[in-house]
Order: sequence, then C-alpha cells, then structure tokens
Amino acid sequence: MTKKLTIKTANFPVKKTSVLVMFAHEGNRPEGEADTLFIKSGLDWDTLKNAATFTGTRGQVLDVLAPPNLDAKRLLIVGTGPKIDEDNSASEQEQSSLSYANFGGKLLGSLQNLEAQKIALILDAPDMSPPQIAQLIAGMHLRHYSFDKYITPSKDDDAAPTDLNIVMYVNKKRDVDKASIPVMARAHGTLLARDLVNEPPNVLGPVEFAKAAKSLSSLGIEVEILTPTEMNKLGMESLLCVGQGSTRPSRLAIMSWNGGKKSDQPIAFVGKGVVFDTGGISIKPAGGMQDMKGDMGGAAAVTGLMKTLALRKAKVNVVGVIGLAENMPDGNAVRPGDIVKAMSGTIIEIINTDAEGRLVLADALWYTQDRFKPKLMINLATLTGAIMVALGQDYAGLFSNDDELAARLSEAGNVTGEKLWRMPLGPAYDKMIKSRFADIKNTGGRYGGAITAAQFLQRFVNDVPWAHLDIAGTGFGTPANDTNKSWTSGFGVAVLDQLVADHYET
Ligand code: BES
Ligand code: MN
Ligand code: ZN
Repeated sequence: MTKKLTIKTANFPVKKTSVLVMFAHEGNRPEGEADTLFIKSGLDWDTLKNAATFTGTRGQVLDVLAPPNLDAKRLLIVGTGPKIDEDNSASEQEQSSLSYANFGGKLLGSLQNLEAQKIALILDAPDMSPPQIAQLIAGMHLRHYSFDKYITPSKDDDAAPTDLNIVMYVNKKRDVDKASIPVMARAHGTLLARDLVNEPPNVLGPVEFAKAAKSLSSLGIEVEILTPTEMNKLGMESLLCVGQGSTRPSRLAIMSWNGGKKSDQPIAFVGKGVVFDTGGISIKPAGGMQDMKGDMGGAAAVTGLMKTLALRKAKVNVVGVIGLAENMPDGNAVRPGDIVKAMSGTIIEIINTDAEGRLVLADALWYTQDRFKPKLMINLATLTGAIMVALGQDYAGLFSNDDELAARLSEAGNVTGEKLWRMPLGPAYDKMIKSRFADIKNTGGRYGGAITAAQFLQRFVNDVPWAHLDIAGTGFGTPANDTNKSWTSGFGVAVLDQLVADHYET
C-alpha cells in the first residue's frame, strides 16, 4: 500500500524533523534560512558540493546522512536550476506553472524512497512565488497518486512507515495557502478523473458512475440522473441502442454548477461514458480489450472538471452532461444494419456497433444544446483508434466549428501540458457518412476515421460554438511522467479548467 501523503505549510522557524530539504540554485550555495541552518551544521559547502559533484541543475539531489549539529537525520540539498532574475531570465518554460508542478513531482519521487515520515522543506529563498509553491505542492500530490486499492498489502509494506508528512516552511504562508485553493482544486478534480478511469468495469457500471456524479451534490453541484424510461420519452434512440445489449441500464447524468450571474448563459461540457466497450456485435479482438474499461475517460474528465470548478468556486455557470452506457454483444444488442432515430430527428443507420461513442454523444450533445442553450459546448471522448494513428499519445485531437474557441483551447493546452492539435472538418467528410438507407451512417470507412467521427458529432450540435476533443490516445495507457505514474493521467480536467479560468469567469 502506498503511504498516505500529507503536505502542510508552516512559518519559520523549522521544527525537529527526520529529513531536512533545502534548495540551491545552479552554481550557488543555499540562501536565506536554508543557509543559516547549513552554516549551523558546520559542513563546508565547497568541500561537500565538490565531493558530490553537485552543480544545482533542476532536480539534482545532494544527500547528506547524519548532518552534524542539525535536528535531523538527513539533509537533502536539491538543485533548482538557474537563478531567475531580470537580466538572466530563464526560458519561459522554466518559469511556467507546469514546470513547477513537474519539479514537485520529481522531488516527491526522490522523497518517496527515503522511508522517512517527517520531511521539512525550506522554501524561503529559491525565488518561488506563492502560486509556484502551490504548483509544487499539487505536483507532489499528483505524483503520489497510485490506484492500488485492489492490491493486497504485502508484509513488507506493513513494516514501512504508513504516512509521509511534509511540512513546507515558507515566508508568506497565507499567500501560499490562498494560491493553493484553485491549484489543489484542479489536482483533486484530476485525481477523481483518474480514479474513475482506473476503476474496473464490473465495479463502475452506468448506475455506479451516475452515483459518483450524484455525490458531487455535496459540493453545491445540482445533479439530475435520467433513466432509460425518461430518455426514451425524449426520443434518445441513438444513445439507448448502445446499452441495449447490456444487463446494466444506461444513464444520462446532468451536473450544474451555478457560480455565475443568474442571467449568464452556461458553458457546457459533454462526455462519452462508455463504461466498457466490447464493440458489441461488431466485437473487438480479445487482445487489450481490458483497456476498454477506460472508454468513459471523457465522462470522467467532465466529472472531475465539475468537481474542480465547485471546489474553487468558479464564477461561471457550467453544465456537465455525461452519457453512460455499456456496449455489449447480446441477443438484444443493436445490430449492424439497424436504423435508429436520434433525439434531433436525424435517422442513423448503424454500420458498425463498435462506433458507439458517437451514438451516445449524438443524443447527449443535442439534449445539452436544446435544453441549456449554452454559449459554447465542448465534448470529450475516447472516440477513435484513428486519432492515435494520426497523433500518437502526446496530443489529443481538437475539432471545432469556431476558430476563436479552437485557439483558446490550444493555448490552454500548451499552458497545462495537455496538448491539443487541431484537425479539419468539412463538407467533403460529410459525404463519407451519407447513408443509403437513412440520413447518416455511423462509420465513414477506413480513411480519416477520426475526422468522419467528428463530422458525425457536428450534425448534432446545431450551430452552437462547439469543440470535440478526441482523447482516445491521451485518456489512458499514456507513458508515465513526473506528475503521473498511473495508467491514466486524468486528461482533460486541467486544460478545460484553464480555459474556463482564462476566458469565461466574471
Ligand atoms: N472506444 C473506441 C476507440 C478507442 C480505441 C479508444 C482505442 C481508445 C483506444 C471506439 O468506440 C471505437 O471502437 N472506435 C472504432 C470506430 C470504428 C469502428 C469506425 C475504432 O476506432 O476502431
Ligand atoms: Mn467502440
Ligand atoms: Zn468506444
């Protein structure tokens, strides 16, 4: 079992601790309170750094065991990289919030291995602003996350200390605590999204996912859940046909956060929540099918985002709508060749039951714009394998009918590291999804598979400024990095929270 991580801020002076962590800029000795303690230790800086070939590059660690004259068993000196001042401005990347979160992650990685319970960080002198320290803390929490609730703890682990208690000694504790509220809100939303994606599909069905959404009402989010009976009345044949082969009934969850003015039109987020995608009658091959428990990553991101916005009391009206269904083969499952009528009135021929995400979103998108008249609508979906062929796992696909919205999203992606790459839409792709027997078919052939899927979605957005993020490549199974060691990073929460904060709050 992972140790529980607690991070607190405190004012100086530094209390007794097992590990003392101080920082040094590249080419410099520790400064401020750190240097006072270092001098007290009686160690000689030049001798020490030469012996350890410590230069102070970011993340480099100089580890001193049993430092003399200090109330600690161990002293760590961590390099911060070059000192930033006006005429020596390190690259923008180095100073960005992203880089501090990554630094925090890296640092926690070193601290996790120490088998120590009480760790004190001295943060008065490394030129970090309160928001940057907040990012450092959030990066530590994100790095610490591990989904191990189904792993029986081994005897070895029981012997290890249970908790990791970190105290951050800072000059402006109140400012750091204040700056931490929005930053930690984002981290908590991201961690919720990770938990939802990691959860196995037998545990998290549509009903259980809807319950998880409902539990956000304790944060002041209004949550409504529609059952198949209610969706049927609304004419949602497209969404409902996806789950009709499953013994577990579909759900539509609607979450509203009203932090803006009463009269403000909301912005809307819509998520694909296929709790497990077997492909249905067009069944997928067995290899890797277990990954399809993550086919609700879009819905998880929307749910995590709602949590973030509520935790930081965002001044904006937002609705989050998630379509929850399980795609199973069965005697009652939808077939290739079946024809269904979406809520919008558009009639769809099913060619491949594995192209189910667009069927779920067709009704979820139409319902959202019809009921809430949002000023913009953004959906997230693990929609196509084709987007992974096009972009790999570093960028998510961005499709939009609105240049300004697309530009804002790309920018937010660069700031947060959840990068988005714009892909085209256009009437030529519409031709590829014209059906012989109905208005539209649910696949467009082998070429441009991510685009024809997006083009399909656009038929259900009714001219509202809209963007679709295809997160099939980024939603799960991504390489580990400094702030994520889990199977899923919780992709989507950060970029959308950034977008809201930058452009849509009053
Ligand atoms: N959920 C899948 C897409 C997916 C694939 C997500 C791999 C993450 C990793 C989606 O429902 C799907 O099966 N799409 C098909 C569409 C095809 C049948 C037109 C695909 O991409 O193969
Ligand atoms: Mn599928
Ligand atoms: Zn799917």
